[in-house]
Amino acid sequence: MGRLISIASGKGGTGKTTTTANLSIALGKMGKKVLAVDADLTMANLSLVMGIDDAETTIHDVLAGDADIEGSIYHTSYENVDLIPAAIDWEHVRKADPRKLPGTIKPLRGDYDFVIIDCPAGLQMDAMNAMLSGDEVILITNPEISCITDTMKVGIVLKKAGLAVLGFVLNRYGRTDNDIPPDAAEDVMELPLLVVVPEDPKVREATLEGVPVVEYDPDSEGAKAFMKLAEEVLKIAGLKARVMY
Ligand SMILES: Nc1ncnc2c1ncn2[C@@H]1O[C@H](COP(=O)(O)OP(=O)(O)O)[C@@H](O)[C@H]1O
Ligand SMILES: [Mg+2]
Repeated sequence: MGRLISIASGKGGTGKTTTTANLSIALGKMGKKVLAVDADLTMANLSLVMGIDDAETTIHDVLAGDADIEGSIYHTSYENVDLIPAAIDWEHVRKADPRKLPGTIKPLRGDYDFVIIDCPAGLQMDAMNAMLSGDEVILITNPEISCITDTMKVGIVLKKAGLAVLGFVLNRYGRTDNDIPPDAAEDVMELPLLVVVPEDPKVREATLEGVPVVEYDPDSEGAKAFMKLAEEVLKIAGLKARVMY
């Protein structure tokens, strides 16, 4: 049985989509069969980040009852990585029922080693349904206090809901002179720090090219950090994490 991991955070723009794309490709490079799912129904951009912009059928069609899930799964050019894209037009967003997300995504674990779910920020209904589609969660925060406390709130709620909180990623570290340092962030979050991803212009450049940085520039600091995240995730057995945290 594969592992279902939600990528979540308290705020938008912290790097959830970037992490979903890079973690998926990194795990694929390590020989794992991976499905990346765009579950950010209103602000979808995972497929753009992964360089796919011509999908006919999306998660929205499935959630509207207009398509089968199998028809929304696409092979990507990245080794071992499939993708379920999302639509970007409002008409599709309006018709899709987010409450169907967990029931739609969870059965896919039978076909993959990992299902990585790109979620909306916060604790609203759309975000909750996306996050509860996973059994485990990785929180993404930036090194500033309001972002850390908002993300911590999400972690507390998800833990109460029964998810295994694997830990957090401190992303975009080094962007400003007054960034919260990693050890202080870990003290506030009271969760394991999985990896520090530095602010790296290559990450942004890769996003613009539609080729995530682990593929675009594997020697960059950003790419190395996302590869390390994949190693950390492989080290943690799902059940053990559930007992520990
Ligand atoms: N470590 C990083 N260094 C530089 N830019 C980054 C980094 N992580 C993310 N970004 C950029 O930040 C922006 C927001 O990231 P994104 O993953 O879309 O956030 P979210 O999905 O949480 O809203 C993107 O333009 C992305 O390229
Ligand atoms: Mg996003």
